[in-house]
Amino acid sequence: MEDLFARNRAWADRMRARDPEFFRRLARQQAPRLLWIGCADSRVAANQLLDLDPGTVFVHRNIANLVVHTDINMLSVLQFAVEVLAVAQVVVCGHYGCGGVRAAMAGRQLGLIDNWLRHIKDVYDQHAEELAGIADPGAREDRLVELNVLHQTLHVARSTVVQNAWARGQKLEVRGWVYAIEDGLLRDLGYRVRGPEEIGAIYRMVGEGVT
Ligand code: CO
Repeated sequence: MEDLFARNRAWADRMRARDPEFFRRLARQQAPRLLWIGCADSRVAANQLLDLDPGTVFVHRNIANLVVHTDINMLSVLQFAVEVLAVAQVVVCGHYGCGGVRAAMAGRQLGLIDNWLRHIKDVYDQHAEELAGIADPGAREDRLVELNVLHQTLHVARSTVVQNAWARGQKLEVRGWVYAIEDGLLRDLGYRVRGPEEIGAIYRMVGEGVT
């Protein structure tokens, strides 16, 4: 623990040497333009892989970057990011080699977490035919990582928070990316949702509700 505090002091010194006003400016406000919803995996650290300083990205991470519409934690982050910080982009970023996705593909019980990973099984089930057609297990897992991002991107867009933002005329784009731990590079999966017409008729709601 001592070492962690020493590392923190050295980092803060370096930041101040680079920009003496950095922390004072940051203390006054944060103005991130991006909400990052990513995996809790220690190798997928949003700010570091984007090479962005503190204050630039609002971050929510959980196992396998899931957006579950009853998750009050995720919804609170989303509401604050959209309504107070007025971010212009929400990015759902998955990653290849995701342990959560891998576990969801396996049939063994792991405990409480199985109830969380069930959301990934639901994605698998919706694309069972396509996935069954991929012979290589690694390629099949990679594809499920991508499909999981696609679905979570839609889940963000279908939320009342995002629908109400669009209804107010707020510019807000939801994107799906994937990160490869092996080369440190992000890939844009091309999943983009820019308006309510793209979320499926049954999910569209009119009138301001509770958020
Ligand atoms: Co992961």
